[in-house]
Amino acid sequence: MLKNINPTQTPAWQALTAHFEQAQDFQLSELFAEDNERFAKFSAEFGSDILLDYSKNLITEETLSKLFDLAEQTELKAAIADIFSGEKINHTEGRAVLHSALRNRSNTPVMVDGQDVMPAVNAVLDKMAVFSSRIIDGEWKGYTGKEITDVVNIGIGGSDLGPYMVAEALAAYKTRLNMHFVSNVDGTHIAETLKGLNPETTLFLIASKTFTTQETMTNAHSARDWFLATAQDSAHVAKHFAALSTNATAVAEFGIDTDNMFEFWDWVGGRYSLCSAIGLSIALAIGFDNFVELLEGAHAMDKHFAEAPMGENIPVILALIGIWYNNFHGAESEAILPYDQYLHRFAAYFQQGNMESNGKCVDRGGNPVDYQTGPIIWGEPGTNGQHAFYQLIHQGTKLIPCDFIAPAVSHNPISDHHPKLMANFFAQTEALAFGKTKEQVEAEFVAAGKSLEEVAELVPFKVFEGNRPTNSILVKQVTPRVLGSLIAMYEHKIFTQGVIWNIYSFDQWGVELGKQLANQILPELTNDDAVATHDSSTNGLINQFKAWAK
Ligand code: F6P
Repeated sequence: MLKNINPTQTPAWQALTAHFEQAQDFQLSELFAEDNERFAKFSAEFGSDILLDYSKNLITEETLSKLFDLAEQTELKAAIADIFSGEKINHTEGRAVLHSALRNRSNTPVMVDGQDVMPAVNAVLDKMAVFSSRIIDGEWKGYTGKEITDVVNIGIGGSDLGPYMVAEALAAYKTRLNMHFVSNVDGTHIAETLKGLNPETTLFLIASKTFTTQETMTNAHSARDWFLATAQDSAHVAKHFAALSTNATAVAEFGIDTDNMFEFWDWVGGRYSLCSAIGLSIALAIGFDNFVELLEGAHAMDKHFAEAPMGENIPVILALIGIWYNNFHGAESEAILPYDQYLHRFAAYFQQGNMESNGKCVDRGGNPVDYQTGPIIWGEPGTNGQHAFYQLIHQGTKLIPCDFIAPAVSHNPISDHHPKLMANFFAQTEALAFGKTKEQVEAEFVAAGKSLEEVAELVPFKVFEGNRPTNSILVKQVTPRVLGSLIAMYEHKIFTQGVIWNIYSFDQWGVELGKQLANQILPELTNDDAVATHDSSTNGLINQFKAWAK
C-alpha cells in the first residue's frame, strides 16, 4: 500500500526550499569551471549502450543529496518494492500495476491475488509468436488464399501511441508487412488509411483494453463494413480480424473468433501496455524476436530500477531532477527532443505516459494538493525543432528543462548526415548551458570588422543568457533492446515522481467527464430540434453546427 505522505511536510522539502535560496543563482558556467570532474560525477552508464549525462543541470552534489533525502522520506524504496510485488497500488481502481511482469524475462513468479501471472503472460507471448510468424511468413492466408500484405492496428491512447511509436522507432527492422495505425474517430483517418488497401490481403488488429472505447469501436465497425463490402460473408472475418483486449465477452459479441483474441489483464494500464498483447502490431512490424529484444531491454531497466541504489538509479535521478525544476524552479513543462527521425513519436507517446499518469490534483489522502504535480510534456525531433520552437527555449522567458536523445550509430549512414545531426545535438546543449555573453557578442562584431558604436543597439538581442538545463541521453544505436530500456526508464521516472507527489499515477478519471458528455450530446446531434439543454455557449455552438451540417 502506498503511504499518504505530503512531500512538502518532509524535512527534506524544507531543506530543499532553503537550499533553493542559493541554488536559484547557480550558473552552469561556474559549476563547470569549479569542478573538472562534473561530467564524471553527474553521468551514468546503463549497460554498454546508454549514457545519461545530467551534468548540465542546475544542481550540485548538495542538491542531489537533498533530493535523495526527499525520496527516502516519501518512502520511495517501499513503493518500488510494492509495484514489483503486485500490491494493488492502483488504489482507486483496486488493481495491481505489473507492466514489468509482461517483460519479466527472468520468469520469476509474480503473484496477483495469490496466483502467479507468469504462466498466462508466457502463454500469450507464445501465441503472439506463432501468429506473428504465420502472418509474416505468408503461411496465414486471407479468405481468397492470398498472403497478408497490410496490417491495420485500430486503437487509441495506450492502444495506439505505444505500438505506433515503436513501429516507427524500429522501422529499420521492418518485416515485409505494411503497418497502418488508425486512432482518430474522425472518419478521415480510417478512410484515408483504407484507400489503396485490398480487403483480401489486409489484417485488422482491434486493440482495446476495454473493447468499449467509442473511437476504437466505431473504427472497428467501419473496418468490418469495408471488409464485408467485398468479402460478403461474415465467416471470412476470422481470417482478417484479431482482437487485443482484456474483454473476451465484448470481443466475441463483435464477432471476432476468440482463437484470434490475444489477452491481457486489468493489472496492465493502457498507457503501459505496449509489452502486452497490445504489442502484437509491434511483433508484426519488426518480427517476434525483435519484440522479445524490446522486452529484454525493458526488463533490464526494470531490474536496474528495482535493485540499483538510489544514488545510481537512473529513473530515480531523472525523476528527482524533474521535481527540482517542477517544484522549486517553477518550470511548467519538459521537452523531449530526439535527434533521431525514427523516434518522431517518442514525445507524443510519453505525453500520454506522463500527463495521463501524473496530471492529478488530488493526493493519496483524497485532498487537493497545494504543490505542483505532473509537468506538460512536449517535443519534436531535432533538428526540426531547432527551426521551430528552440528560439523560445534559448531566449524566451520560460524555463524548459529538456531531454536530448541521440544515437551514436545511425541506421542510415548516408553521406555526412549523421555527423551533421550529432553536431547539432552537441551544440544545442552546449549553447543552452553556456550561452553567449555580451563580451563574446561584441568580440564577434569586432572580429567581423564592425565598430562597437555601430552595433551597440544590436548587442542585447544577440546575447544568450545560457544556464538552461538539459539531460543528454546518448545511446549506441536505437535497437529494440535500447528502445525497451528507454521506455522503461521513462515509465519508472513517471512512477517515482507520482510516489513523491503523493498521487495515484495509474488511474485516469480525468478523461471520463468529456466521454460522458459526448455520449449525452451525440443523440442531440441526430435530430432537427434546437438544443437548449446546455450553457449558452455549448447550445450556440451545437445549434450552429446543426444548421451548417444539415
Ligand atoms: O483516454 C483514456 C483511456 O482509457 C486510456 O487510458 C487508454 O489508453 C485509452 O483510453 C484506450 O482505452 P482502450 O484500450 O480500453 O480502448
